[in-house]
Amino acid sequence: MYFHLGIVLLFLIEKGLSSTLTPQSDFDKSYVGVVYEPYTKNHDNRHDYTLDEVKDMLLVVSKRFKWISTYGMGTISATSKWNEGQAGGFSGMAASQINQEMNSLQLVVNLGTWLISNDAVMKQEIVNAFTVAGLANSNFPGTVNGVIITSHHTYTDDQLRTVVHLLSQNLATARNLKVQLGLRTSNCDALTRNSELIRLLDFINCQKFPTSQTSKSNVSAEVGLVGRYFLQLRQEFGTIKPNLTVIGETGWASFDKSGSQREYNSSVKFWREMGQWAKINKFRVDMFTAFDEPWKIAIGTHEPHYGWWERVGNESSGSDAFREKLTYLEPEPAKPKSPWSVEVIEGRVIKDDTPPTSKNIASSPTILSEFVRFLLMITLYQKFVTL
Ligand SMILES: *[C@@H]1O[C@H](CO)[C@@H](O)[C@H](O)[C@H]1NC(C)=O
Ligand SMILES: *[C@@H]1O[C@H](CO)[C@@H](O)[C@H](O)[C@H]1NC(C)=O
Ligand SMILES: *[C@@H]1O[C@H](CO)[C@@H](O)[C@H](O)[C@H]1NC(C)=O
Ligand SMILES: *[C@@H]1O[C@H](CO)[C@@H](O)[C@H](O)[C@H]1NC(C)=O
Repeated sequence: MYFHLGIVLLFLIEKGLSSTLTPQSDFDKSYVGVVYEPYTKNHDNRHDYTLDEVKDMLLVVSKRFKWISTYGMGTISATSKWNEGQAGGFSGMAASQINQEMNSLQLVVNLGTWLISNDAVMKQEIVNAFTVAGLANSNFPGTVNGVIITSHHTYTDDQLRTVVHLLSQNLATARNLKVQLGLRTSNCDALTRNSELIRLLDFINCQKFPTSQTSKSNVSAEVGLVGRYFLQLRQEFGTIKPNLTVIGETGWASFDKSGSQREYNSSVKFWREMGQWAKINKFRVDMFTAFDEPWKIAIGTHEPHYGWWERVGNESSGSDAFREKLTYLEPEPAKPKSPWSVEVIEGRVIKDDTPPTSKNIASSPTILSEFVRFLLMITLYQKFVTL
C-alpha cells in the first residue's frame, strides 16, 4: 500500500510541478514552512491514522517544505503516551524516520502542544512532546527543533500565568535536550511587553490571517498588510529580546464564503506571494496549512479549505492521493485525470448545486446546518465510490 500510494502521489506532484509552477516561484524552504496536522480524512476520527500514513503525508509535504509546525500531540489522558492518543502524536517520529531513510535533514519539526485545561493531561501533553523530541533526534539529529505551547485564542490572565508556569517548568528539559521553547498565538501584539514571558521563549509563532479572503480581495494588498504586521511585531519583541525568533503564520482558504464556492486562485496566489515576501524579507512564515481538514466543516464552510494539498481518492481502497490545488488552475490540467478524484463530487455539491437543498443549507451559517451539509457530502461521496 505504501508503494502504491507513493506512486500515485509522485505522479500527481510531478504533474503539478511540471505544469504550472516555474522554478522561480517555488517556495524557498529556508523561509517558507508549513503547519501540519494529520486529520485529513472525510470523518473526524482522530485515531484513524497510522504512523505509516502520517509518514506518507509528510513525504508529500517534504517535496515543498522543510520546516513544519504542528498543533498538538493528541494526548487523551494523564497517562497516555505519545503513540497511545490521537494521530497528532506521530508527526515527530514520522519525520525522523523520513530523515533517517533519506539520510538527510528533509524535515525539521516544531512540535505543538495544545493548551488543555486539565492540568494533568496538559502536563502529559508536554511530556509526550519532549519524549518524541528525544526519540526523534536520536533517530536523526535535528529533526525536532522545538516544542510549542499553542493557543489559538487571546490568552486570559489566568492562561498567561499557566503558560509562563509551564514554560519555566520545562526550560531545563528543553535545554538538556537542546530543543527550543516556543509559543503560538493569534494575539502576539498583546504580548510584546510581557518580558517575563518573552525571556522564557526562544521563538514565537504569531498568527495573522488576512481580514478579507474572497475572490474579490486584492491578494497582494493583503500580503502587504500581513507582512507589515509581522515586521512590526519583530521590531517590538526585539526591544525586549533581540534574539527572539519571530515566525509568522498565515493562510487563505480556497473557499469563497461570499459566493459559497471553491475558489482556488486567490488561495494559491496568496501562498505564492506570501512565500516571495518571506524570502525577500528573510522572515520565516509557516503557511497554514499543509492539507485540507474536512472535519472542520463543523466550524465554518471555509474552514476545511486552508490546505495547499487536499486528500483525494477512494478511502475504501486505500489508494488516496494528495493533490496540489494549483493543479486545479487552468490551463493545465483543467480536470483531474484519475477516475476517483473527489473534485468531481465537490463540483456537484458546491459549484453546480445539483442537490437543490445544498445551497439553502450552505447559506445558513449555523453549526447544525454545517453538520447536515457535511453528512450530505459524505453521502454523495459514498454514492460516487460505490458507482
Ligand atoms: C492591489 O494592491 C497592490 C498592492 O497594494 C496595488 O499595487 C494594486 O494596484 C492593487 N490592485 C488593484 C486592482 O487595486
Ligand atoms: C538570547 O539571548 C539571551 C541573553 O540575552 C541568552 O541567554 C540566550 O542564550 C540567547 N539565545 C540564543 C538562542 O542565542
Ligand atoms: C484562475 O486563474 C486562471 C489563470 O491562472 C484563469 O484562467 C482562470 O479564469 C481563473 N479562474 C477564476 C475563477 O478566476
Ligand atoms: C474504491 O475502492 C473499492 C475497494 O478497493 C473498490 O471496490 C471501488 O471500485 C473503488 N471505487 C472507485 C471509484 O475507484
